[in-house]
Amino acid sequence: MRIIIEPDPEQAARRAARMVALRVRNGPALVLALPTGNTPLPMYAELVRQQRERGLDFSRVAVFGLDEYVGIAPDDPRSLRACLWRHFLAQVNVQPDRCQGLDGSARDLEGECAAYEARIVAAGGLDLVVLGIGVDGHIGFNEPGSSLGSRTRIKTLTAETARANAGGFADPAQVPRLALTIGVGTILDARRCLLLATGSAKAAIIQRAVEGPVSAQITASALQLHPDARVVLDEAAAARLERADYYRETEALQSALPGSD
Ligand code: PGA
Repeated sequence: MRIIIEPDPEQAARRAARMVALRVRNGPALVLALPTGNTPLPMYAELVRQQRERGLDFSRVAVFGLDEYVGIAPDDPRSLRACLWRHFLAQVNVQPDRCQGLDGSARDLEGECAAYEARIVAAGGLDLVVLGIGVDGHIGFNEPGSSLGSRTRIKTLTAETARANAGGFADPAQVPRLALTIGVGTILDARRCLLLATGSAKAAIIQRAVEGPVSAQITASALQLHPDARVVLDEAAAARLERADYYRETEALQSALPGSD
């Protein structure tokens, strides 16, 4: 795991955006999986800026959404697909037919999940998965207890996660308790994982995910098993890490190596 600590949320977002942008430049036919939530918004804003000011080209990039609410149609403004479009995809030159999301209104939800996995495989697998982290340690909607080998499937959101996601709903009681999410195993199969976390509310779970044991109770800890996982943090989210000084030292030394990105 490569732990990158930036002074504040804006610089953490810019750092994450630079990592995504570099991959887009190096391999324009990149296959990306992208999250929703509040944390990635400044990263998306920076990517939009790079497209507008530096011509960063997303026209050949394929995008898969990480997760979706059950019972919410893709064109519903409360869907996570609509949210990703609003905050990012609509503002860059992606091709809509290269952008996919899970359909939470599908009649056959298990079939929808299996088809999504097949579409990821058909696209050549995920090159880069960008992730947030929930305060319970979830990545995607892989709540505590999710198998670390899990594939795309139906999950029940914890009451805490439903509350944290109430923003898009007029009444918090309307937040669906069922969701579809790509699995932990699906994430671990990606060529690179990039987790972005900012703010003091994430400090305790980041410490457990990064420095604690690998556990299905904290699915982000599975990233410890990934050969190319990067965790970009601001100081507030990094505040509880026991080896923060070593991570800073490592980053300073290794990022100076030729060819390092
Ligand atoms: P947040 O959500 O970025 O809004 O904190 C993260 C998550 O639940 O994965």
